[in-house]
Amino acid sequence: MTQQIYGKSYEGTAAENYQRFFVPSIGAPVADDLIGVAGLQPGERVLDVACGTGVVTRRAADRVGADGRVAGLDVNPGMLAVARSQTPPDMSIEWYEARAEAMPIPDEAFDVVLCQMGLQFVADRHAALQEMRRVLVAGGRAILAVPGPTPQIFAIMRDALAGHIGPKAALFVDLVFSMHDVGELRELMRSAGFEKVDVQAKPKAFRLPAPADFLWQYIQSTPLAEAVNQADPARRHALEEDVCAQWQRFAVDGGLALQVNMTTATARK
Ligand SMILES: C[S@@+](CC[C@H](N)C(=O)[O-])C[C@H]1O[C@@H](n2cnc3c(N)ncnc32)[C@H](O)[C@@H]1O
Repeated sequence: MTQQIYGKSYEGTAAENYQRFFVPSIGAPVADDLIGVAGLQPGERVLDVACGTGVVTRRAADRVGADGRVAGLDVNPGMLAVARSQTPPDMSIEWYEARAEAMPIPDEAFDVVLCQMGLQFVADRHAALQEMRRVLVAGGRAILAVPGPTPQIFAIMRDALAGHIGPKAALFVDLVFSMHDVGELRELMRSAGFEKVDVQAKPKAFRLPAPADFLWQYIQSTPLAEAVNQADPARRHALEEDVCAQWQRFAVDGGLALQVNMTTATARK
């Protein structure tokens, strides 16, 4: 699939574009922080829930080494296909296509469960957290990261999507930033049975591509692609003009300066 957007072409599926665009600018820096907090040790068994294209999963495999075991689980086969294609042949990772709410994994199979920017998309968050706890050994640890509240750059995109494309497109942006409240996440984890729950929110700075590039890269990397690509060209043009005009105040050295609060939860079984 190739989308021509004002002279630039975006080839590939949303999953391929997620890996190509979203991971370098946002996914990888967040993964570096998550892996740092996780403190993985050689030989540990790690499950990455909602692994997407595997940016966290592969970092985990590097840390635990050949004596460890790493698995990635995601509901989207397109994301898993890219995850597999990005994994070096000498790196052993098991990939599960499944919902976080019902994992085809035996009890107490892992020492660590990771979940980066995934919980907010899961329909039944309580069930997913219970599943994460179930597959951990006693004393095993869970480390989750979720973004929000909606930063100004994304609020502008959301409002422009609502105006030019439709309310359903705007809802996707709301969902991305829907699970960040420290108290809510703490309670959710405790109610799933986790102990020693610690939840912290910290600002994280990102340097993004130039406004029009980032707008289209983000759209083509997410489920937004379908709705936006079907829209009338005049609407897409108006979307770009509207968003880029408002994003000018975040422009720095030709790129966009984004600051997002990341909420990180750590807990033990
Ligand atoms: C923003 S991506 C994050 C991917 C990866 N963790 C990362 O940081 O790049 C969100 C992922 O959650 C997955 N997802 C959404 N709902 C899910 C569910 N119920 N069970 C498993 N994965 C789910 C999506 O398929 C998608 O790959």
